[in-house]
Amino acid sequence: MKTNLSVELGKLKLNNPVMVASGTFGYAEEFRDFMDLKKLGAIVTKTITLKPRKGNPSPRTCETTGGMLNSIGLENPGLENFIKDKLPFLKKLSIPIIISVASEEEPEEFLELVSRLNKIAEVAAIELNISCPNVQGKDGLIAQDPESTYRIVQEVRKITDKTLITKLSPNVTSIGKVAKSAEEAGSDAVSLINTLSGMSIDVQRRKPKIASGVAGLSGPAIRPVAVRMVWEVFKKVKIPIIGMGGIMDADSALEFIIVGASAVSVGTANFINPKTSLEILSGLKEYLIRNKITEIKELIGSLKV
Ligand SMILES: Cc1cc2nc3c(=O)[nH]c(=O)nc-3n(C[C@H](O)[C@H](O)[C@H](O)COP(=O)(O)O)c2cc1C
Repeated sequence: MKTNLSVELGKLKLNNPVMVASGTFGYAEEFRDFMDLKKLGAIVTKTITLKPRKGNPSPRTCETTGGMLNSIGLENPGLENFIKDKLPFLKKLSIPIIISVASEEEPEEFLELVSRLNKIAEVAAIELNISCPNVQGKDGLIAQDPESTYRIVQEVRKITDKTLITKLSPNVTSIGKVAKSAEEAGSDAVSLINTLSGMSIDVQRRKPKIASGVAGLSGPAIRPVAVRMVWEVFKKVKIPIIGMGGIMDADSALEFIIVGASAVSVGTANFINPKTSLEILSGLKEYLIRNKITEIKELIGSLKV
């Protein structure tokens, strides 16, 4: 049986809906020996900022029940080093490359990053990371406030025609409201969820296991929260959703698609098995065949309630 796994994120076409999440796949070159990268639906690169960042002090990761905490703090080589050292490899892959950007000084830094990336033909889309819990400003995260989200997305929208994705935070009361703001300001898609704020304590030392104290929780433990949030956002907006949070296998990816995600991103699972994303892709094909469904698009938002 012939199946069609292609999906659209606004004007961006993906051969299949399986992507890899920012910060869990480096700049893709690190994974070249493990898999055929060209089979992925898209790659989202580790978030970059205008200037290089060293990130937060160690220890920056620890395991938790059904997941992990991280407080990397957006360590990255900065825009110019990224363009010089990392982008050439990505350009050769001929699959959509989505560049994740964050700003230490909004909105000027976002505008500088986006206007530079806008000139690079191989950049398929830009993801605005306004939801990293490890680099909070004094007023909290942009993605925690619908008005700040609107302002940033609208400013960036003015200067680029590239597909714009806004990455949302689960650390809010109503993620639907923030998604709606992003849509109204011109975002082509939303991606969710970034990590949940969490802490883990070494009881012998009575110290946090992560040097910075509070960190971001990811992995299967957060999946039910993420699935619920995608469902909430699906009911609120018309733009496509990229779902993520604890996706480990084809069934967990399908949960997100059925509640409304047009594409899915694999994060923490890449650290356990770097081939997870391609195994999920095979599993999705098998599911379609088993259920006699020709187009994966038929499954998007097909939840029976
Ligand atoms: C070690 C680590 C680093 C991350 N770095 C970033 C990042 O740079 N930018 C970003 O938008 N999200 C980052 N994330 C969040 C993931 O992209 C994803 O949203 C989150 O982990 C939920 O998916 P998962 O449970 O499948 O990991 C990071 C997550 C982890 C575990």
